[in-house]
Amino acid sequence: MNQSARKPGRLVVVSNRVAQPKQTSTGGLASAMQAALQERGGLWFGWSGKISANGELHRLSAGPIDYATIDLSRADHDDFYAGFANRTLWPLLHYRPDLVDYQRKHLEGYLRVNALFADRLVKLLRPTDILWVHDYHLIPLAAMLRQRGVKNRIGFFLHTPMPAAALLIALPQHRQLLETLASYDLIGLHTARDLRALEDYFLHEIGGAMRPGGRLRAANGRSFRAGVFPISIDTALVAKAARCAETYEEIGQLRKSLEGRALLIGVDRLDYSKGLAQRFLAYAHLLERAPALHRRITFLQIAPPSRGAVPEYRQIRRELERMAGHINGMYAAPDWVPIRYVNQSFPHSLLTGYYRHARVGLVTPLRDGMNLVAKEYVASQNPKDPGVLVLSRFAGAASELEDALLVNPADTAEVADALERALKMPLRERRRRWRGMMDVLESRDITAWRNDFLDALTAAPAPASIAEPASPAASQITLPKKPPDGPPSHC
Ligand code: UDP
Ligand code: G6P
Repeated sequence: MNQSARKPGRLVVVSNRVAQPKQTSTGGLASAMQAALQERGGLWFGWSGKISANGELHRLSAGPIDYATIDLSRADHDDFYAGFANRTLWPLLHYRPDLVDYQRKHLEGYLRVNALFADRLVKLLRPTDILWVHDYHLIPLAAMLRQRGVKNRIGFFLHTPMPAAALLIALPQHRQLLETLASYDLIGLHTARDLRALEDYFLHEIGGAMRPGGRLRAANGRSFRAGVFPISIDTALVAKAARCAETYEEIGQLRKSLEGRALLIGVDRLDYSKGLAQRFLAYAHLLERAPALHRRITFLQIAPPSRGAVPEYRQIRRELERMAGHINGMYAAPDWVPIRYVNQSFPHSLLTGYYRHARVGLVTPLRDGMNLVAKEYVASQNPKDPGVLVLSRFAGAASELEDALLVNPADTAEVADALERALKMPLRERRRRWRGMMDVLESRDITAWRNDFLDALTAAPAPASIAEPASPAASQITLPKKPPDGPPSHC
């Protein structure tokens, strides 16, 4: 029988961040999974976003989605979320080994919270459920679920880049941690480059092998499939939202305030991976060399604060405030502000209206798994008069949106050139490029992404037919003995 024709089991999505009803969650994972679950329904399990001592379980249903979220204790939040996930793994996965802070205490917290998730989740599972675990916070979760007897299909999707193996091996205990990926049945990555990096790591760094049929076999004996599944958006819904947003009061106010100037827009969590400092420099470079553009353009950068408990995020926030102030100080006139820098989050539907109004969408991360803002910007455009996307080559989206103006975000002059070209681009070329990108987004939307992944997961060999290692690797992570007064080690 055709796999996708079978009656599907309940979908159980597990992620640290959960897009809970009536909350504005910024972040691609929350946006994408909200869209992916909306039609199919299922259970979404993860962190409530709250800190409390008793680890309370919150249950809620909204439409077809049941939510089950747990609170984290202060120590778990600090060690797992602010610590190992966002001070160790995040910079490593985004090619910033200089920012990696490795502390044994944080790794302990990371394993403790993964075990807590496994303990709480296992009680909610049914035998026919299909589990889909998301992102770097939960790498060892499948191994821990398997230790607790879970035999269901379990897939994993990494929303960040998978960096080169040479970087991964800089992580202390990398093997013990990353080998636990083999307890999943299917691993999804955004791009072919990410897949190559994963294969290279397993094959050449930790003694894995490629089995017939393209399955990877880890040295611990378990094998799994890995594939490329570029995440996407609900293209039709975003396009519709952008059309509807034309009538919003906020959009009218923005239009009025522009007084006919061309709008450039950036929308990013305030994260060092997003290349905001480089983007500001490129914009300043443009203003410096093209005085004719003064008063004729406005750059709106929306940058909601993110992960404020992590020192590197507080630092980038201070740096950007200083840069925005400096650029406005240099170039502003009594009746014109070159950069509108807004540290606030906006509902998705309103953002689509802002995108539609912008002649240029600036998406220039230094590294990004996919970058959904790039896709949302394209889908929000008016087909008769579309804007131009300036996109970093180092965003996963660049592998699909080839009709964007692709740039190296570190090359200030190249980004400034692309901005100028975008502002001057004739309508005909704008339409041609937009159509090319929109064709991609219409054929590969969020529903296609979800179905492709789940079909591949369902088609994976049944877990029972695969020998489980006697003791999954997560249990083998050994924490080095604490030196008497040693400072935290860095890598
Ligand atoms: N977003 C939002 N409100 C904001 C800023 C961002 O809803 O004020 C959403 C945005 O529309 C997108 C997501 O957050 O869906 C950001 O995803 P992306 O993949 O671009 O980056 P990430 O934050 O996941 O690194
Ligand atoms: C990225 C990560 C997600 C995360 C999101 C927002 O997209 O891949 O896992 O949810 O950023 O970050 P936060 O720390 O607020 O969940």
